[in-house]
Amino acid sequence: MSKRYTITAALPYTNGPIHIGHLAGVYVPADIYARYQRLTGNDVAFVCGSDEHGVPITIKAKKEGVSPQDVVDKYHAIIKKSFEDFGITFDNYSRTSAQIHHETASEFFLELYKKGEFIEEVTEQLYDEEAKQFLADRFVIGTCPKCGNEEAYGDQCEKCGTSHNATDLINPKSAITGNAPTLKETKHWFLPLDKHEDFLKEWILKGHKKDWKPNVYGQVKSWIDDGLRPRAVTRDLDWGIPVPVEGGEGKVLYVWFDAPIGYISATKEWAEREGKDWEPYWKDENTKLVHFIGKDNIVFHCIIFPSMLKAEGSYILPDNVPANEFLNLEGNKLSTSKNWAVWLPEYLEDFPDKQDVLRYALTANAPETKDNDFTWKDFQARNNNELVAIFGNFINRVVVLTNKYYNGIVPELSDYSQVDEETLAAVKAYPDVIASSIERYRFREASQELMNLARLGNKYLADEEPWKVIKEDEARTKTIMFVALQIASALATISEPFLPFTSEKLKKILRVALNDNVSSSDSTKENCIENSWEDISTKDILLPAGHQIGKAELLFNKIEDKDIQAQLDKLEASKKANEAANKATEPQKEEITFDDFTKLDLRVGTIIEAEKMPKAKKLLVLKVDTGIDTRTIVSGIAESFTAEEVIGKRVTVLVNLAPRKLRGVESEGMILMTESPEGKLVFVNPDANQDVANGLQIS
Ligand code: 2FM
Ligand code: ZN
Repeated sequence: MSKRYTITAALPYTNGPIHIGHLAGVYVPADIYARYQRLTGNDVAFVCGSDEHGVPITIKAKKEGVSPQDVVDKYHAIIKKSFEDFGITFDNYSRTSAQIHHETASEFFLELYKKGEFIEEVTEQLYDEEAKQFLADRFVIGTCPKCGNEEAYGDQCEKCGTSHNATDLINPKSAITGNAPTLKETKHWFLPLDKHEDFLKEWILKGHKKDWKPNVYGQVKSWIDDGLRPRAVTRDLDWGIPVPVEGGEGKVLYVWFDAPIGYISATKEWAEREGKDWEPYWKDENTKLVHFIGKDNIVFHCIIFPSMLKAEGSYILPDNVPANEFLNLEGNKLSTSKNWAVWLPEYLEDFPDKQDVLRYALTANAPETKDNDFTWKDFQARNNNELVAIFGNFINRVVVLTNKYYNGIVPELSDYSQVDEETLAAVKAYPDVIASSIERYRFREASQELMNLARLGNKYLADEEPWKVIKEDEARTKTIMFVALQIASALATISEPFLPFTSEKLKKILRVALNDNVSSSDSTKENCIENSWEDISTKDILLPAGHQIGKAELLFNKIEDKDIQAQLDKLEASKKANEAANKATEPQKEEITFDDFTKLDLRVGTIIEAEKMPKAKKLLVLKVDTGIDTRTIVSGIAESFTAEEVIGKRVTVLVNLAPRKLRGVESEGMILMTESPEGKLVFVNPDANQDVANGLQIS
C-alpha cells in the first residue's frame, strides 16, 4: 500500500555556492531516497530551500559591502541551479525570505508563546562596545567548554558538535572587532529544553530510535545524559524574522528556530501550487518524516526541533534523521575560506556531462559511518573501472550486438539454459536487495549492489560469448541476447535513483518509458515498454521479443589522467595561495631600534641592463642606476622575469649590503621584492606616477 513520506534535506546557508561535501553528505542520499520512494509508488513530498537568515549571511554582506538581501538573492539562484543541474528532485526548493515562511515561522512562535512554552527572561549577554552590537552565534568566537576547540562559535562548536549559549564560551572574542566583549542586559525568549528532557528520553532513548544510525543515536544520548538547559530562540539582530510579540521590537528569531520551520513552509508552498493539502504531510501519524542532514546539524534536528514540534502539539516527529559524517578532500578538511573544495558550478564547467559520475563517486565513497576522503584518483577509478568498464561496457555490447545481429529488434528466445535461468533469477533478486539497503540508509552498499547487477550482465556476456556462438548456433545466440537485454532493461529502471541522467539515456536507447516523476520534454510513451521497480522482480519478461530498440550511444567516457591532473593543479594553486596569505599574516619579526633601521641605505634606482647568468636557472645579472653609481647586482628573479622584461624597471635597492660573489660575479646590493598570492615575484617599486629621481633615499 502506498505510504506518505515527507523527506527534508538541510536548508543550505545562502552565503556561498555548494560543494561536493554538501552533495555527498545530504543531497545525493536524500535524492536517492526520494526517487526510490516515488519509484515504488509512495506519495512523496521532498522539500528543501535556502536558509537565508543567520549571522554568516550578515558577515558575508558586510565583507562585500552589499546588503544581506543581495547576498541571498545571488546565492539562492546559484544553489538552486546546482541542485537542478545535479538532478536533485526536490518537489519544492523554497527560501526562508519567502513571505509564506515569515508567516509560518511567526505563527509557530506565537503559538508556543500563547501556550506559555517559552521562558521570557532578561539576562546578561555578550556585547561589543565598539561595534555597539550584541554578539551571538558566529559574531563571537571562543574556546569550547566541552572540547577546548579555540574557534568555537557562540551557538555551536563545529569540532565536537556541541550546541551551547554564547556566554558559555571561554575567552570569547568579537568576530567583528576582535575585542573581548562586555556583558549587557537584554530580554530574550528561551525554549526550556530541560522541560522536554523526559519526553526526549522516552522518545529517543527508550523508544524505537535505537535503529537510528549509531553516530546520531550516540550524539543525542550523550547530550541528553549531560542534561539539557533552556536555549534562547531570539536574538538582538536586525536580519531575520522579527519577534512577533510585545517587547520583541528590534529582535529576530534565532536562525535555528526559523530554519527547520522552513521545511513546513516549503511543504505549504508546494501544496498550494499543486492544489494539495499540506497538513497530512506534517500532521498525520501515518506519514513518515525523514530529515537528511550533516552531522553538525544533529542536535537541532534530534533535540531542539522535535521539542518545538512537541511543544506545539499538532505535528508528527521525525521517524529517522540519517545524518552523515563529513567528507574530506584529498586528505584535508573541506574549507570555504581556504577554497579547499570542489564547487559544483566549477565542476560542471570542467565536466559538463558528468553529473552522474560525481553522484556515483560520492555515493560509493559516502561518509556514512565515518569521515571519508574524496580523491580525484578515486573519482577517476570509479568512472573508468566501474561506470565505463562495467556498466557502460555491458550496455554498449548489448545494444551494438542487438543492432548488428537483429537490426535492433529484441530476438525470440528458445530454451533457457541453466545459466540463463540462474542469471534471470539473480536479476529478480536485486530490487529487494537494493531496497533493503536504501531503507536502512546504506546508500554506499546500495550503489555497490547496482554495480553488481551490471557486473552480472558483463560476466554473462563474457561467459556466453554470443559473438562466437553466432558462428555455429543462431538460436542460442538469440537467447543469449534476449537474456542480456532483460538485464539491460533491469539496469535502466534500477539505476534511476543513483544515476538519473544515465537511466534516462538508457531508457531512451531501450525505448523504455521514462518514469512519470522525471520530467522530460521529449519523453513519449509511444512504442515504449513500462517497467516499474516492482516489475523487475515480478515480470518474467521486461523487454519482449519484437520490441525495437534504438542505436548505441556511449553512456560514459573515460576520464584521462590530464583531466585529473588539472583538478589536482587547481587544488595545489589554492594551497599555494593559502600559504602566501598565511605568510602575510605570520607574526612580525623581533623589534628593532630606529638606529637599526637607519643602518639600511635604501635608494630608488632603475635597472638599465640585464642578462641571464649562464647555467643558473634563477639568476639575472643586472646593472642598476642607483643615483650614486651604476652597479652590478645579481638577483634571483630569473624564474619570474626575462632579462628584457626588467630593463627600465624602477626598483628599491639596498645599497649598503656587503658585496658577495655569486657564481663568480660580485653582487653589490639587493633589490626589494615580494610575492603575489599565486607565488609570483613582484617588485617593490617606487610609485611610477611620482617624479622620483634615482638615488633618493627611502626613509
Ligand atoms: O548547517 C547549515 O547549513 C544550516 N543552514 C542547516 C539548516 S537545516 C534546517 F533546519 F533548516
Ligand atoms: Zn567543542
